[in-house]
Amino acid sequence: MVLRQALLTGARSERLRKLVSTMPVSSAIVSRFVAGETADEAVEAARRLLADGLQSSIDHLGEDTLDREQATRTTNAYLTLLERLSRAGLTRGAEVSVKLSAIGRALGADGEKIALDNARTIALAAQNAGTTLTLDMEEHTTVDSTLSVLHELRRDFPETGAVLQAYLHRTEADCRDLAHEGSRVRLCKGAYNEPPFVAYQKPNDVDRAFVRCLKILMAGQGYPMVATHDPRLIEIASALAMRHDRSRGSYEFQMLYGIRPQEQLRLVALGDTVRVYVPYGDQWYAYLMRRLAERPANTGFFVRSLLTR
Ligand code: FDA
Repeated sequence: MVLRQALLTGARSERLRKLVSTMPVSSAIVSRFVAGETADEAVEAARRLLADGLQSSIDHLGEDTLDREQATRTTNAYLTLLERLSRAGLTRGAEVSVKLSAIGRALGADGEKIALDNARTIALAAQNAGTTLTLDMEEHTTVDSTLSVLHELRRDFPETGAVLQAYLHRTEADCRDLAHEGSRVRLCKGAYNEPPFVAYQKPNDVDRAFVRCLKILMAGQGYPMVATHDPRLIEIASALAMRHDRSRGSYEFQMLYGIRPQEQLRLVALGDTVRVYVPYGDQWYAYLMRRLAERPANTGFFVRSLLTR
């Protein structure tokens, strides 16, 4: 717990970011979780996954953008990615995931409007390419803003995916709001360091909240996207889908690139839809720290990689 908090606090440290970011993306610890630095490497990862029957949601890494040009560059990176995916004939199996903080939300009073405009540009490109966009969820202070952008985007792009984090006290109510026909909702535990007045702190409480949210989503009319590596929650999700007479294909499982690849293939072999979240780009630092915080057992390996560079 203490190490988890230290790693999540480290994810916000500029000094640590500078030190760690000098590691090459090819180093074992980074390349385990990140598909590469370029759009072509991400497309290649999506192609390999699809050959194994796995779909993907590709994320151009970067968050907390404080510079308008950077927000535009990130938006353009998504347009390039979608064009490459389309050219490679992969858009049936690959969509994109976007963090609003990477495309301008933090840019002062107009930030949300800038992020909405950029998200609209990406959603249109995704629609033209025959695929979809999912809005990642970030810190609790930004949930209302993300949901408001989601509602705006869904007017023109109803297929836009939402993400809800089970650790937040508010999320059961958000699940009820979003469990309607055509609504794609990714349910995850939540990856940020949140205070007790908004989020469950004990892993068991988060798991119980995850199950309560799953019940709402599986009983609803939407399309649940069950994003977890947790074997118990995967089992419960399958049982709930069966209880609600959901056919395979009326929900999906999602996991992160490099995490439990054998489990991903096992679910595909059972006939389930499985989507892998594929991050790429050179801004991998905060993403990597969150992955290490989830599994502190990897931290020794990480520190050794840093020291023996
Ligand atoms: P947890 O980390 O508690 O692990 C539970 C169990 O899973 C472990 O006890 C073990 O059995 C198994 N397990 C986990 N990792 C393993 C490993 N490396 N090897 C073997 N077994 C392992 N968060 C967020 O805040 N906003 C977002 O938008 C997203 N988006 C997102 C997309 C997708 C597709 C996924 C899968 C996750 C996210 N997340 C996220 C991250 C999410 O909130 C959460 O932090 C991680 O998924 C880790 O939580 P788990 O549910 O896997 O459980």
